[in-house]
Amino acid sequence: MQSSSLAGIILAAGKGTRMKSELPKGLHRVCGIPMVEHVARAMKAAGIERPIIVIGHGGELIQEALGDGYDYAWQREQLGTGHAAKMASPLLEGHSGPVIVAAGDTPLLQAEHFSELIETHRESNALITLATSILDNPKGYGRIVRGPGGDPIRIVEDKDANPDQKLINEINVALYCFDCPTLLRILPTLTNSNSQGEYYLTDVIDSVQSEGGKLAAKVYDDPSVIVGVNDRWQMALAAKEMNRRILQRHAVSGVTLLEIDTISIGVDVEIGVDTVIESGTILSGRTSIGKGCLIGPYSKIQNSSIGDGSSVIASYLDRAEVGDEVWIGPYAHLRPHAHLEDGAKVGNFVEIKNATVGKGAKVNHLSYVGDASVGAGANLGAGTITCNYDGHKKSKTKIGEKTFIGSNSTLIAPVTIGDGAFVAAGSVITDDVPNDAGAFGRARQETKPEWAAKRRGVLKSTGH
Ligand code: UD1
Ligand code: CA
Repeated sequence: MQSSSLAGIILAAGKGTRMKSELPKGLHRVCGIPMVEHVARAMKAAGIERPIIVIGHGGELIQEALGDGYDYAWQREQLGTGHAAKMASPLLEGHSGPVIVAAGDTPLLQAEHFSELIETHRESNALITLATSILDNPKGYGRIVRGPGGDPIRIVEDKDANPDQKLINEINVALYCFDCPTLLRILPTLTNSNSQGEYYLTDVIDSVQSEGGKLAAKVYDDPSVIVGVNDRWQMALAAKEMNRRILQRHAVSGVTLLEIDTISIGVDVEIGVDTVIESGTILSGRTSIGKGCLIGPYSKIQNSSIGDGSSVIASYLDRAEVGDEVWIGPYAHLRPHAHLEDGAKVGNFVEIKNATVGKGAKVNHLSYVGDASVGAGANLGAGTITCNYDGHKKSKTKIGEKTFIGSNSTLIAPVTIGDGAFVAAGSVITDDVPNDAGAFGRARQETKPEWAAKRRGVLKSTGH
């Protein structure tokens, strides 16, 4: 990096023991994306082109999840935050501007937190600017020791603090802005002679102070936003706050939300104006919803796209593609690669998988449509089932345009029903039906006059 632009390091090599998890802490998702990705995205939004993520514990997983929009530095052994920052140094050679260092477990940090820190850093002409906050209960955090002039002079870790220092309630939130050349010069000089035997990033402050370098601090008044997540309860609280922000963003952009405490929306969800989201709805992944839709109550939609003016009532959609003016539900299940074209209707207790339902086609009740295509304007009666699986392989069902499939028909794939064809209710269809043909795949009914009355007589005479 050969510039005076802004650089950033995210420390995410630690295990996060208190999460009690196999996953590295930073990979736990908050509103749909990993915590560390929230920090990385916020850095990008603040103008840091390629944040450097220091990885170690579960590092491959982090790299895989976040992809190549970032640089990665490996810290194979977790010897402390100072050691972690040092692992990123080679990527910062020649960088003369400021470098922000943040922890990977602070998902609520936003671009403006970084911008404010840089502003304080520039205004105060400091070599290091610390982000701090005041906590009623500062236990466990590094304490900010300020000198007679009011500037910070040192950070003392909780485990190393004396009784007086433990009373300080201004804490280090582990977000810093460093003059990069100063940081790179001091990192190799850190020692691990402290109660935890770790290389502390916080000791860089002490070094700069003893050289007479200028230190500054920016106090953030909302600790809940700026302080990191250590366990899953703190993560749950962070997710609640993140969700609130997301809902607010959609509401002010023209989306109506009913019962906000029951709705959750992922960070990457897009919603058009005048759409109404009702209670108990969960929208996640790369989901986009058009204008003027009605979603919910109690719908869960993930990684799906929905056009304008569609309704999804109490239904579950996963990787589905839905056009305009489509009606879904209540209680429909759209599985991967369900594709409903404009004006289609899918009603209660219908499951669609890997199938296209053409324009204006109706599958209104109690059906399974899998590995199939349903032509425009077709009408599938209640209980129509595509038998796509024979226990060994999946086969396709093609249902033509404007067909009428009578209720409770069983279509044994592979099979094709031609355009305009008619299938009688209760049919088991094993052979293709040509265009405009009628198919009656059921046993002929036999009706016996007086049969029931005679039966009653017999039963009576035998005493039943
Ligand atoms: C750190 C600060 C402390 C501050 C607190 C805020 C130090 C020495 N202490 O303490 O002053 O109040 O954060 O939460 O920096 N990490 C690595 N490699 C390591 C160790 C840690 O990448 O070898 C990463 C972790 O994954 C985490 C971050 O650094 O994202 C902070 O580490 P953590 O162990 O939580 O630091 P604390 O001891 O809490
Ligand atoms: Ca921590």
